[in-house]
Amino acid sequence: MDYLDLPALTRAAGTVRLPGSKSISNRMLLLAALAQGETEIRDLLDSDDTRVMLDALRKLGVGVAAIADAPRDRVAAMGGNAYRITGCGGAFPGKEGDLFMGNAGTAIRPLTAALALSGGHYRLSGVARMHERPIGDLVDGLRQIGADVRYAGKEGFPPLDIHPASVRLAAPIRVRGDVSSQFLTALLMALPLAGETAVIEMTTELISKPYIEITLNLMAHFCVTVEREGWQRFTIRGGQRYVSPGIVHVEGDASGASYFLAAGAIGGGPVRVEGVGRGSIQGDVKFADALAVMGARIEMGENWIEASSPEDGKLKSFDLDLNHIPDAAMTLAIAALFADGPCRLRNIASWRVKETDRITAMTTELRKLGASVEEGADYLVVAPPVASSAVSPVPTFSAGAAIDTYDDHRMAMCFSLAALGGVPVRINDPKCVAKTFPDYFERFGRIAAPVIAIDGPSASGKGTVAQRVAETLGFHFLDSGALYRLTALAAIRAGVALDDEAGVAGVAATLPAEFPGERILLAGADVTEAIRAEDIGVGASKVAALPAVRTALLERQRAYRRLPGLVADGRDMGSVVFPEAPAKVFLTASAEARAERRHKQLIGKGMPANMRPLLQDILQELRERDARDAARSVAPLKQGEDAELVDTTPLGIDEAVAAVLDIVRRRLPQ
Ligand code: DC
Repeated sequence: MDYLDLPALTRAAGTVRLPGSKSISNRMLLLAALAQGETEIRDLLDSDDTRVMLDALRKLGVGVAAIADAPRDRVAAMGGNAYRITGCGGAFPGKEGDLFMGNAGTAIRPLTAALALSGGHYRLSGVARMHERPIGDLVDGLRQIGADVRYAGKEGFPPLDIHPASVRLAAPIRVRGDVSSQFLTALLMALPLAGETAVIEMTTELISKPYIEITLNLMAHFCVTVEREGWQRFTIRGGQRYVSPGIVHVEGDASGASYFLAAGAIGGGPVRVEGVGRGSIQGDVKFADALAVMGARIEMGENWIEASSPEDGKLKSFDLDLNHIPDAAMTLAIAALFADGPCRLRNIASWRVKETDRITAMTTELRKLGASVEEGADYLVVAPPVASSAVSPVPTFSAGAAIDTYDDHRMAMCFSLAALGGVPVRINDPKCVAKTFPDYFERFGRIAAPVIAIDGPSASGKGTVAQRVAETLGFHFLDSGALYRLTALAAIRAGVALDDEAGVAGVAATLPAEFPGERILLAGADVTEAIRAEDIGVGASKVAALPAVRTALLERQRAYRRLPGLVADGRDMGSVVFPEAPAKVFLTASAEARAERRHKQLIGKGMPANMRPLLQDILQELRERDARDAARSVAPLKQGEDAELVDTTPLGIDEAVAAVLDIVRRRLPQ
């Protein structure tokens, strides 16, 4: 089986832009399909579950067109997509269809209801697990109004066969709300198709209420209002129909945000998520409140949330009713591993009918990490693993646990956080995150992968040492100087003056550079040697002094932070680009030693004596470059307070590498 080995981690900090919300994406797609007019949906989540919905809508005759060059509302959003949906202004035009729903509950439930009112023949099926997930309460509700929905397999479960029928809305529809709130969502979204006034009455307590709020909110956006009496009775007045609001925007995924916020609360932080905040319509933003109960420091803006560890570094135990945030609650079961005592998660029965039986799955996997877990019908008590002999309890996670994920994206994402307990963790079948968050692990790496920042002046041997350290550790390597050199070379080639700040920043922002193996390509041409020329080094130092150029290269450098870790070589790696790096080194040597090394290097390269600069000229040049790099207003070259000095003047390469590895061993978990 496929697996991903996460290294032992301790720190998490940084910023993550969230992919679009699954709940909002699939609701908006269906509403846009049923509405009158064209809707442009921006930042739609690109994942298995939304693809299932898009495919189904196409099969049902809805106009679905990807918009290639739509403006992005979230600038650097990865995987965000825009679609133009041409609504049918009522029931689906396709009167026949065999639709595969994968394991997407947010697709099959609402579609079942909408198709039952569409007057056609349809079959809805899914993966094996989908055929174990209940749908009986919804089918019962639909049958009450005369819909003809039949079970093609086991009674109460998909696959379903839907036949044309005429519906009557005389009496209220009575439906249970204690298994899944999606049954109510499905009825609410479909009933305006009937044209008459419809009333829904709950026969039990409604769970996961915030998801109903999302539904009502989005329906209102598409011009249909629902009158609600508490959470008991819902009335949709007749004569209302969905009308496209034009352009709509999908918020970031609040459930997906929970992993990063928890990482910030566990691993120091701050970790900021962008795409959800105070203005969100998703109930899962309340996850931040639960983290606050644990003592985490939370800050929130309109469109962002930030989490950091408690002041004293210790997360507190909790006893919480989590019915309102069933998905994000899973993340709390993992956060519980880091708490100062047993944590109780109450009122989570719906976990049992999700992608897998999440209560049992969570119990089994948490135990692999050494936690003691009590599993109830609708609750969990998680006691963190602690060393019994320790004077003050310290988490002692069982190392090397192989976590099974049960084809459940949230299991995979949750358990990545366990690596922050300072132990390596294996995640089996990591690709199941594609259901809602295809690039989850890359983004997790962006906040949690350890960075070793190696800064220092030119010709200190830094590049060679950094590369050797990266090889030894199996880490990725960033030669940030190469980006400044490439910028200088590209600017010169494009005829942009090196003191034209805006011009050079433009070049830097769109640098067509690639790094295949050991080579460096600029617009497809090999420039590995060309960027090492002395004049390009001088040019690099000039463009590096321009603030706009440094800003333009910032995100590009941060994107190198990946699991299992990064060695970053430059001038401001520890101070500006990766200030949260757990290991920072200032690698230097006397100017004389560096000049001598550069001189020997040129001889080694076979440069003839008559073309070679004199040793004293190299020394002079180095001193000028040092002075320029140190005197500039932004990110000047200097040893940071938190960086450890390695003076390589008396050291050979092997000794310098050993000195850096020694620092790494002290600073990073093994
Ligand atoms: O490390 P190097 O010699 O390849 O760097 C080329 C120039 O780029 C150097 O003069 C300083 C500048 N630079 C920088 O300002 N910040 C970095 N992180 C890396 C290099």
